[in-house]
Amino acid sequence: MKLVRLQGTGFDLETSVKYAVVSLPGESSGAVQDASKDKAWLRHSVCAFLGLRPALAQHTAAEHTAFRKWAEGCKCVVEIGVAEGVSALALREGMAEDGTLYLIDPFHLSRIPALNFIKRVAQRTVDGSSHGKVVWIEKFSQDAVRGWKESIDLILIDGDHAEAAVEQDWKDWGGFVKPGGTAIFHDARIFDRGWTSPNYGPVKFVDRFFRSGEASEWTIVEELHSLFVVRRNK
Ligand SMILES: C[S@@+](CC[C@H](N)C(=O)[O-])C[C@H]1O[C@@H](n2cnc3c(N)ncnc32)[C@H](O)[C@@H]1O
Repeated sequence: MKLVRLQGTGFDLETSVKYAVVSLPGESSGAVQDASKDKAWLRHSVCAFLGLRPALAQHTAAEHTAFRKWAEGCKCVVEIGVAEGVSALALREGMAEDGTLYLIDPFHLSRIPALNFIKRVAQRTVDGSSHGKVVWIEKFSQDAVRGWKESIDLILIDGDHAEAAVEQDWKDWGGFVKPGGTAIFHDARIFDRGWTSPNYGPVKFVDRFFRSGEASEWTIVEELHSLFVVRRNK
């Protein structure tokens, strides 16, 4: 197994695997070969598309396992913010066989929009599971919500990280989560050796809204690395 560490990114890359999660400082991942700084180009999604590197998660291995766990048995799962599709794959693997996974991302960050390698990599990553059905919604979350009607079992909020945008996502989508359903915020808490800070939008929103007792309809059910998970009371 060949492992490549992309300096300054926190990513350890196993070139023979489909995706790589974020490793925290001090975490060992076997035979790691440091790539030189001039290999920063490897981060471009075209490299994943060409098979030069795996798809990059923006979450840890423990968070990945948690996504899969919270998706278990869920029939309507929504993800806001897909990137290269690794968290979406975890959700797909976990959700009910007859479930539907709605993936919302405008994929507007592509440097070559006509080719949009981020989107292509995401599609291939999510195709790594054949579980349930996948509906791609190539829109900003604030546009995707227009006309939305379905009750949601699980929503993962990991799109625009500005505090106001996280709040807007919550106002737009939170009401669709059914009683007993779950919402996961990513990058929403500070943790040991982690990358988040008190200035992160999701951290500020979650602290202000859920930790203040304002959200009486919701119970905090898990806090893991940057994940903040709440369940809607029945
Ligand atoms: C942090 S990344 C998602 C990482 C991914 N969930 C993972 O764990 O690997 C954020 C993604 O959100 C998308 N995004 C930004 N603003 C958005 C919005 N308003 N609605 C939906 N997606 C958005 C970006 O295009 C980007 O792909």
